Amino acid sequence: MSNLSPADRIIVPLDVPTEKDALALVDRLPDVGFWKVGLELFVSTGGTVLRQLKERNKRIFLDLKFHDIPNTMAGACRAAARYGVDLLTIHAAAGKVALEASQKAALEGATAAGCPPPNLIAITLLTSIPPRALAFELKIPLELNDYALQMAILAQESGLAGAVCSPQEASQLRSVCGEDFLLVTPGVRPTWAEAGDQKRSLTPLEAIQAGANYLVIGRPITAADDPAAAFARICEEMGK
Ligand code: C5P
Repeated sequence: MSNLSPADRIIVPLDVPTEKDALALVDRLPDVGFWKVGLELFVSTGGTVLRQLKERNKRIFLDLKFHDIPNTMAGACRAAARYGVDLLTIHAAAGKVALEASQKAALEGATAAGCPPPNLIAITLLTSIPPRALAFELKIPLELNDYALQMAILAQESGLAGAVCSPQEASQLRSVCGEDFLLVTPGVRPTWAEAGDQKRSLTPLEAIQAGANYLVIGRPITAADDPAAAFARICEEMGK
């Protein structure tokens, strides 16, 4: 893992509504090898965009955040694995039985399709949930960081490969979950980029130093005047 180059560690989200927009972005950034497909693009294009990415030899983070009963999650993970995606997100809060069933089904789906199995990555807690909502809406009597940590531990005990976390949580999760647990962090901003709606971001280099394996970096690259130059600049800064 530690021998990955900076470019291999950056995942750029395809936060666009159509296949045409997605492929235009992919073709504009030929040096980006890892792309994230989320709910909007997947619901509007289905598997087509995934096949197009595979044809271009790109790695895929399929960020659909499954959360359902074990049988349904297993079926969805089995089907997703057949696309040959590299990372796939599911909610840790679905519980151990669902996580274990998902893991097993993903392996079956990949084997049946003759492709490597995806790394299943747990969503611990959506960062859009503030501490107040955790306590008063969800009635969860834990500090936010502690709840996220407990969900990561549950995911690890259920055999998942890693978790999505904010850059601020990366060092704690790294020390508790060990070196082999994959940490994927959005909320990353170079010093020269607009923060936008990411409130407590770290720079790409800081996030890697905190223990992240992969960084999801969107608008600092995709909304730049020259996206390819922005990507190259981030890679260079991470290599320092
Ligand atoms: O443009 P930006 O770098 O903020 O994009 C970050 C990507 O990571 C988006 O696709 C966003 O949905 C996703 N994400 C996030 N914060 C989370 C989870 C996912 O920004 N907590």
